[in-house]
Amino acid sequence: MEDIFNKASSAAQYIELKINKIPTIALSLGTGSSILLDKVHIEARIPYSDIPHFPHSTVATHVNELIVASIGSVPVFILAGRMHYYEGWSTKELTFPVRVMQALKVNKLLLSNAAGALNPSYTQGEIILLKDHINLMPDHPLRGKNDERLGLRFPDMSKGYSASLREMVKMDHAEIKEGVYVGFQGPSLETPAEYKMLHIIGGDLVGMSTVPEVIVANHAEMDVLVFSIATNICYPPENITETTLEEVVEVANQSSVKLVKLVELLLKRINSNQAES
Ligand code: HPA
Repeated sequence: MEDIFNKASSAAQYIELKINKIPTIALSLGTGSSILLDKVHIEARIPYSDIPHFPHSTVATHVNELIVASIGSVPVFILAGRMHYYEGWSTKELTFPVRVMQALKVNKLLLSNAAGALNPSYTQGEIILLKDHINLMPDHPLRGKNDERLGLRFPDMSKGYSASLREMVKMDHAEIKEGVYVGFQGPSLETPAEYKMLHIIGGDLVGMSTVPEVIVANHAEMDVLVFSIATNICYPPENITETTLEEVVEVANQSSVKLVKLVELLLKRINSNQAES
């Protein structure tokens, strides 16, 4: 995927023509978050396939739309439909939507995902706030020639997960746990020996998404916040049970009411902070 800057600019121009007010916050929600769409006031829906250069899944059952909405009174972009490395996309391709958000001057990216729990204190269905990640995916979205218009050659990752956004979440949910997410390529789930290794190297959760988007959003100097739903217990080995996609989706869906509440409260806090400053 060459000339990301120009491709993202032309996608952004297309989107700008379709909407009145451009949000500064984008949500990219993973498994178990579709009920959010019942809670929002939708202003525009733009199929990914209509947006120049936008990647889109060819699977008919997938929602693949950029939604412009307000939650409470806060305007947001919702990237409904996520591309994954295991589907065959390069991490540059699958992070193109984040580049388009950058071109539209979005400065906050909120993500969610379903993940396996490597930290034995986590319970099934618990929502964890990410504070860091370990990137074990075999592809890097910033590999290749760097375009200075998009960001620095060697972006710092010491503040990859915004401390101020995490503080806002904790104001409403002091008890929420924070964890380290390991990005693994999938699509097979990990073996017990792999889960053990990921626990030993410092992972609290493991999943097949999110890390490329977080890296690109940091390159774009956005503030990033990620919620993970711990859908299956992966450590210690004797607590591992067979895991199917259906179970992951079911557990994630059960937690989605909590997840939506967390997102709503956070947006309210961001909005009142912006009003003060
Ligand atoms: N591994 C990787 N990705 C996942 C898992 C897991 O155990 N659970 C949900 N997504």
